[in-house]
Formats: sequence, structure tokens, C-alpha cells
Amino acid sequence: MTDNTNMHLALIMNFSASPHTIGQWRLPRSFRGDSYLDASYWERIARTLERGCFDMLFFADSYTLHDRYQDSPDAAIRYAVQYPRLDPLTLVPMLSRVAPNLGFGVTGSTTFIPPYWLARNMATMDHLTEGRIAWNVVTSYSRSEAQNFGLDDIPEHDLRYDMADEYMQVCNKLWSSWDEDAIVMDREAGIYADPTKVHRIDHEGEFFKSRGPLCVPRSPQGKPVIIQAGASPRGLQFAAQHADVIFATPTASGGMAKHRAAINAALEAAGRSRDDVKVIWGITPVVGESEAEAKAKRDAIQANIHPEAALVLLSGHLNFDLSTLPDDVPLSDIEVSGVQAFARGQKMTAKQYAQRMAEGGNNLITGTATQVVDKMEALYTQGEGDGFMIVTHALPSSIDDFVDLVVPEMQRRGHFRSQYGSQQLRDRMFNETPNE
Ligand SMILES: Cc1cc2nc3c(=O)[nH]c(=O)nc-3n(C[C@H](O)[C@H](O)[C@H](O)COP(=O)(O)O)c2cc1C
Repeated sequence: MTDNTNMHLALIMNFSASPHTIGQWRLPRSFRGDSYLDASYWERIARTLERGCFDMLFFADSYTLHDRYQDSPDAAIRYAVQYPRLDPLTLVPMLSRVAPNLGFGVTGSTTFIPPYWLARNMATMDHLTEGRIAWNVVTSYSRSEAQNFGLDDIPEHDLRYDMADEYMQVCNKLWSSWDEDAIVMDREAGIYADPTKVHRIDHEGEFFKSRGPLCVPRSPQGKPVIIQAGASPRGLQFAAQHADVIFATPTASGGMAKHRAAINAALEAAGRSRDDVKVIWGITPVVGESEAEAKAKRDAIQANIHPEAALVLLSGHLNFDLSTLPDDVPLSDIEVSGVQAFARGQKMTAKQYAQRMAEGGNNLITGTATQVVDKMEALYTQGEGDGFMIVTHALPSSIDDFVDLVVPEMQRRGHFRSQYGSQQLRDRMFNETPNE
């Protein structure tokens, strides 16, 4: 890799006591004097990320709890497995004021939310953030989510993506339903907007029907930055067609290089070039001032993982009750309807992979800032990536660690901006020259 590489950085959270690694809430360094239920906690995180010049704060989300394991919600509640789970969208207008450059990624499901509601919401957020909003398009994966929305079960995997394709069409039409110059504001004539420049969409498709126009004027970015994380063949086909940013994790069946090759092939099949999409890899850095300090932090993470809680998390993502699986069966032997990429080709057993996931996934990096950035450089090359999605552990101190220790080392090596350039998120992701 060359100097003056412009890496992108996002931080993944959910509005929860324990976002992505198991037992985060009980780590000795977590929630000292604050709580994830306090607005001030989120303001502090947003300010920290702004200080570190992050591209965005990204909120993963779903509308349920992980209750597939033993077909019961008890363990998810008992151990706070990505639970409780509040609505992150409500945080965005507030945080965008305390962090005036930071972008915000928010998850919305094409399986449950009507497209008109979603399109309106995102356009409103794009106005309020002055063009810093991104939408993480998910098709969702769990039965209990479906049941919260009045369905008996989640629609079948590939059908969800067929629905999502049409959903994107509807949203794109709604976001274009106001011409850019529709607002006239002619005070003398008393005309606010030109009705010939605001259009119905009259969409009537296989899954959705919407008349339009959207009741929100054209937003600063025109539409949100589109993020997607599907990793199955059908999911990649969808991402390649619609995404600006692909959030990737190494798949069991071949690691980063193979997954990147699959993304490239899907982009080619969709008639898009690799420059049209930014690929952001998930990593979990555990950083210390010394190697020994970093290792001690990692030991604390491992000591806090309740094995049953780990299985709850994995069962939830697979939409499969892993308590029914014999201990020695590799995950590749089961057929799942949830996040298929977590099981396909996976030679580990449920317990082994659940532990890995509970610690923060396949790219756990423990060490000093120098060691972490060395590893990031290697992963950047290996995955032909454009940046990283940072997974947290102690909250919010692991975010402080990254911003105070790792970001300066990235800047020193010319891999990351030291001040913001572009104001809007899409421009920042695509049009900034290195180290602007
Ligand atoms: C890294 C990663 C992050 C994801 N984040 C979310 C999320 O926040 N909310 C959600 O409902 N689904 C999430 N998903 C699930 C996907 O959106 C998708 O529904 C699921 O992966 C099934 O599609 P696939 O088989 O194509 O991967 C995520 C998946 C991956 C691999």
C-alpha cells in the first residue's frame, strides 16, 4: 500500500447496553458514571468521533431480541445480548448538532417498514444533518421480528431480496419526486413551490404500491448514502446493484480475499466498477499503551463472555436454535434462513464460532497502536478495502482508546485525514482527495 491512502472509518454501535461483543456492559471499564440510556453518553461518543475525524457513526439495529436459542427470550434478557434495544434514529438530530461534521448511518428494514415511511424519514434526516445521513438497507433475518410486525414468520431469504429490489425503486422514485428547483419562495406572488415540479410516482409493483409525491423537498444529498451488508450470493447481487458502501466481514468459506473477489464479480455483473462502491471491513481493535495492557483488556473481554450468551447471539443471527445441535457438528452442516454467510463453509462448531463472534468477530486485533495499524495496513491490502468499521468493547472507553491512540498513528503514516474536508457524507466517501 502507498502513503497518502485515504482510509475511511466508521464506528458500529447499536442503541443498547451491549452492542456487539458479549458482556460489554459488565467490563470493569464500561459505563463509569454514565449509561447508554443518557443523552450525554451519546453526545460524548459523537464528540469523540468528531475529534477523531471519523466518517460516520453507524447504528446496526433490529426490532426484537435474540430469542431463537431454546426458543426463549430469557437468556437474551438475562445477559443483555444486544438488548435492550432503543431506536437510534431518535439520536441523530441531536448528535448531528454536537458533531457538525460526523456522518450517521441508520439501519432500516425493507421487510417491515413501508417504503414511503422510510423514504420520508431518511429525506428528513438528510435535511436536518445537512447531507450526512446514510441508510443501512437490511432485509432482516429473524422470526421474532416478523412476529412483532404481525407476520407469522419472516419471508424466505431470496424473496426478501426480491422485495428489497422493488423497495429501492420506490424509494428512489420518491426521493426524485421533487425537482431540485421546485421551491420558488416568491413572497410577492405568494407562491412557495411550483406544483409542476413536484411529481406523483404512481408506483404499482409486485410487492409495493405508492402514489407520491414524497412530502419532503429534495434533500441535500438527493438520497441517503446506501450501505449494505448482505453476504450471501443473492445479498451480494443486491448490494452490488444498490450500495454506495458495502460493510463486509470475512466469510467462513474463504476469508477476506475470497469475499472481496465475490464482491468484485457481483459489481461486474451489475455493470458497476469497483470505484463506484466503498468496501469497509469490520475489525475489533483492543488497543493499549503497551502490549501487556492490551492483552489485559482482551483477557477481561474473554472473562466476561457467558458461553450461553454467545450461543444466544449466534442463534439469533442464524435464525436457528443452536441448543438442538450436537456439540461436534460444524456449522457448515446446517441450513439456515438468517445470516447465511455465518454458517456456509464454517468448519467450527456452534460453540467455537459463537465464542469468536462474542469476542468481536474474525478480525480481533490486540496490541499497541503501532501493532494495530500494522495489522490494519495488512488487512487493507488483503481485502482491497477502502476502510474499516470499528467494533467496540469497553464503553465508551474503547472508543477513546481508538481515537487517542490509533487515529494519530494512522495520521502519522498518512492514512487518515487530520481535518474534515467535504461537508456531505457521499462527497467525503467518494470525492475527497487523499489527506485533504
Ligand atoms: C456484517 C453484517 C451486519 C449486519 N447488520 C445488520 C443489522 O444491523 N440489522 C439487520 O437486521 N441485519 C443485519 N445484517 C443482516 C443482513 O442485512 C441480511 O439480512 C442478512 O445478512 C441475510 O442476508 P445474507 O444472507 O445475504 O447475508 C447484517 C449482516 C452482516 C453480515
